[in-house]
Amino acid sequence: MHQPPVTILDKQFSIYLPERKILQSVEILAARLSHDYQGKQPLFLSVLNGSFMFASDLMKEISIDCEISFIRLSSYADMQSTGKVKEIIGLKEEIKGRHVVILEDIVDTGHTIAGLLPQLHAKEPASVEIATLLLKPDSLQHRIEIKYAALSIANDFVVGYGLDYNGLGRNLRDIYKVL
Ligand code: IMP
Repeated sequence: MHQPPVTILDKQFSIYLPERKILQSVEILAARLSHDYQGKQPLFLSVLNGSFMFASDLMKEISIDCEISFIRLSSYADMQSTGKVKEIIGLKEEIKGRHVVILEDIVDTGHTIAGLLPQLHAKEPASVEIATLLLKPDSLQHRIEIKYAALSIANDFVVGYGLDYNGLGRNLRDIYKVL
């Protein structure tokens, strides 16, 4: 079916990843995670706001015992060599000894994840991995292993399925890229 472009604020976006393709990829990722974390009762940490839709669809396909919690990252920061470090807000769970899987909407430069990982490691988890809906491999500026990526994409700005442009577009079922 032809999908017309959408306009958000000053930009036009064209269809890029239809919902069907997204859900297929999420299902494959969920099967991998269910296999790899069998018997480990992983704790998924969904990073708000962007990952809410991904986290919801992923969880429905996870077939092993698991928990999920939701965190945010502060917008203020202290400066480090990597740039701004955002602090974790809202983490109530005991992390020590747990197998943690961070759920992200998109890993672009990797600054966000690079700032988050040391904060989690300081809490002595048994393991930490990253599961992201989208990865922009050409944009990544850190030596971090993104073990689980549902889809790799080119270096385009995208919206929809939880991802926003200035707060808008999160409600779109499909993912669109800027024209
Ligand atoms: P990073 O720190 O550069 O890896 O970027 C991570 C964050 O930037 C994501 O969690 C998004 O909130 C935002 N972001 C990066 N690329 C895009 C995009 O193409 N569309 C919408 N948000 C994006």
